[in-house]
Parts: sequence; structure tokens; C-alpha cells
Amino acid sequence: MTDEILRKDRKYLWHPFTQSKVSKDPIVIESAKGEKLFDSEGNEYIDLISSWWINTHGHCRDEMINSVFKQSKKLEQVLFAGFTHKPAVDLAQKLIQITPKGLKRVFFSDNGSTSVEIAMKVAIQYWFNRGEKKNKFVALRGGYHGDTFGAMSVGRTSGFYEPFHEMLNESLFISFPDIWTGNNQLQKNEIKAIDEVKKIIKNEREQLAAVILEPLVQGAGGMRICRKEFLLQLVKIFKEAGIIVIFDEVMTGFGRTGKMFAADFIDEEPDIMCLAKSLTGGFIPLAATIFSEKIHKEFVATDLKKTFLHGHTFSANPVACSVALSSLQLFEKDNTFKKIKMISKIHSKFLLELSKNPSVSKIRMIGTIAAFDYHKVSNVYGSTESLLLRQKFLENGMLLRPIGNTIYLMPPYCISEINLKKSYEKIIEILQ
Ligand SMILES: Cc1ncc(COP(=O)(O)O)c(C=O)c1O
Repeated sequence: MTDEILRKDRKYLWHPFTQSKVSKDPIVIESAKGEKLFDSEGNEYIDLISSWWINTHGHCRDEMINSVFKQSKKLEQVLFAGFTHKPAVDLAQKLIQITPKGLKRVFFSDNGSTSVEIAMKVAIQYWFNRGEKKNKFVALRGGYHGDTFGAMSVGRTSGFYEPFHEMLNESLFISFPDIWTGNNQLQKNEIKAIDEVKKIIKNEREQLAAVILEPLVQGAGGMRICRKEFLLQLVKIFKEAGIIVIFDEVMTGFGRTGKMFAADFIDEEPDIMCLAKSLTGGFIPLAATIFSEKIHKEFVATDLKKTFLHGHTFSANPVACSVALSSLQLFEKDNTFKKIKMISKIHSKFLLELSKNPSVSKIRMIGTIAAFDYHKVSNVYGSTESLLLRQKFLENGMLLRPIGNTIYLMPPYCISEINLKKSYEKIIEILQ
């Protein structure tokens, strides 16, 4: 059975972020439960990265399965222009209740990149509808916002897009002053970044549509974390200059940073927030871009040119909205934030242990995210050494995917204390 699946896989499939020439055959996963994945050969793996940062309450949660089943029997899909339904309005209401209070309007789509694309298009059209031409974006160096063209243009420094550089719109980038244990350049780096911001605003203000950033943590850029005080200062400066602030919380949303959203760490609010990944707890693709009323009201007009002429076939899919609601209910039912605290505590304890390894540096963590650099592998994305390390972790029953030489853990919140501790013990052993 496994051989047949792999034969067909080799023949027909093209996998994301994968160089088939050097990669080993993929693992055939047959089932999953909680924090575990089970393959067709009888092996199990602890999912320490929540299957690309989406799984919150564990795999195959019964409550979520039931919500998919119940909703699928009633209404599986309807176009969302001229129609609406209870799962969409209930989910929109819930999102408005839990996101920063100035955010009032939800636009649904189906993945993180589209949620970003929508934020960027709305920002440009906001100015257009007001009779102004502003179409440049500011972003943080090393940030990642997805793989569509708009998202690539503000993530161009992430290192993933060289073949497309000439096709990307020009964006302006500021440094990301990341924190880690023992970083004595932080203050200097923060001052430099703020100076860059001020310079950009001084020179380019009239053309700036918005600033887009991953608040507190740059995910694909290597799990780099900045201080909340820096984030606050940044947002204040942009808001005072009248520039739209977009928070891409596609990765940081839904408890990852220890609060429901990274935005909850600061007193200033974004004008636009992008959500996807954990929105449905990892069950079904769904994304939401949420707007302040100030932005939305520029699109409400008798002049049809002011309409946001944008939509995706699966916008607000009822099954996806139902399972997202179910996921949000589980936060209360499971007392998820208590689990998140438990994960943070274990991260802290074992990061301290790891710091004794001379090949480990730049230790950092926030909420359920722990990361460090490991100098025995090269810092090149997809390098052979990095692939070998990934393989070694898999052989030891752990799903981990180093980014270059950054090893990070971001487990589902359901992970048991014992499985997280055992995983750390194995990681420490392997790295020694
Ligand atoms: C911060 C951030 N924004 C956007 C995206 C793109 O999301 P998707 O892969 O669902 O298109 C990602 C994906 O990793 C992300 O981490």
C-alpha cells in the first residue's frame, strides 16, 4: 500500500517548498489524533510545529469533526455575493468580539496570502476612493506574508522570491530588531529601526498606502521576535503620520504568542488585521481580513467605482465557518490559555538546558513559540545539513522543520506535558 502511494506520488505530485531532486520520499500519513501523526508503516510522530502552525486543539478533535459533519449535511457551500448564512454571521460577530475593539468589518477568503492580498488592495483602494494616489507599502526586513504577488512584494527580503524580483512592486523596508538571550545590540538596533521609519515617513509619506508587519514574531523569516515596546512605538509613529497599519496575524493569531492576538500586547490598534492558519484550528482553509470602520466606510457609496470588486469562490464557506466557531468554543471549554501557560513553562525550562550546548545560540521564546539557532548546520534554507537534521528528528518520532539553522517548536495546545518534555530530552540528545 505504502509503495503504491509513493509510486503515484512520485509520478503525479509536486510538493510545496520541496526540491524533489534531493528530498527523500515523503512520509505517508494515514491518521492523526491529538498531538500525534501516524504513518502507514506503524510509526508515530509528535507534531511539534502544529502542521505548519495551524493546529491548535490537536488533530481530529471530535467536537470539530461533528461541526463539519453537521454543517455539511445542512449547507456545504453557497456563493457569498447576494447570499449569507448563520455560520458566517456568527463567526464574524465572534471575531469582532475578540479582536481589537476598533476592528468592525470582516472580509472572508481562504488562506493567509489572500488575506494579505485583500488587506493590501483595500489599503490602496481606500486612498483611491478618497481621491488620493498612494500605493507603496512599508514592511519589516525578513518578514514573510505569503506567496501571491502583493504578499511577495512586501516579503521580498524573506529570500524566497529571487526569480520574481523584477515583477514585484517596490516596497520600503525597515530593520527588524530581534531579541534573544544575551543580545547586547538591541537598544542600538531599535534606535536604528526607528530612525529608518522616520526617514521613510519624511521622504515617502505622500505615496505610502500602508505599513504591513507580523506583530512581535516573524515566522518564516526564522521565528525572530521583537519587543512589544518597539512594536508599540512603531505603530504609534505610523498612526500619527496617518498611514494605515496592517497586522498580519496569520501565524501569531489564536494564542500562539500567549495572548489571543499579538495585538493584545500593546495599547495601539491596527487598522487592518489578517487571520488564517489557526482560524479553523487547522481543519479547513479559511481566512479573514478585518477592518476598522474608518476604512470600510470609504467603500460605501452610490458611486460603483468605490466598490471593492474582489472575491473568492469559497469566501465564507459555511463548513469552514462552522468549524472555526467550534475551534473558538474549545478555547473556553478546554481552558486553552492554561495549557498555553504550561507549554511556555516547559519551553523556558528546556531552553535553559539547551543553552548549555555551545553550538546553540540566540535563544528566544514567546507564548507557545520557542526557537534557537544551531551552528552545526548551515543557515541556508533547505540545505542538505538542515534536511538531514529534519530527517534525524523524524527518525526519533518528532515533526520539526528547521528554518535554515533555526530550530523551533510550536506544538498544538493539546500536547501533554510528558510528550513535550520527552521531545525536548530527545532534541537535547540529538543536538549533542
Ligand atoms: C505571517 C504569514 N502571513 C501569511 C502567510 C501565508 O499564508 P498561506 O500559506 O496560508 O497562504 C504565512 C504563511 O506561513 C505567514 O506566516
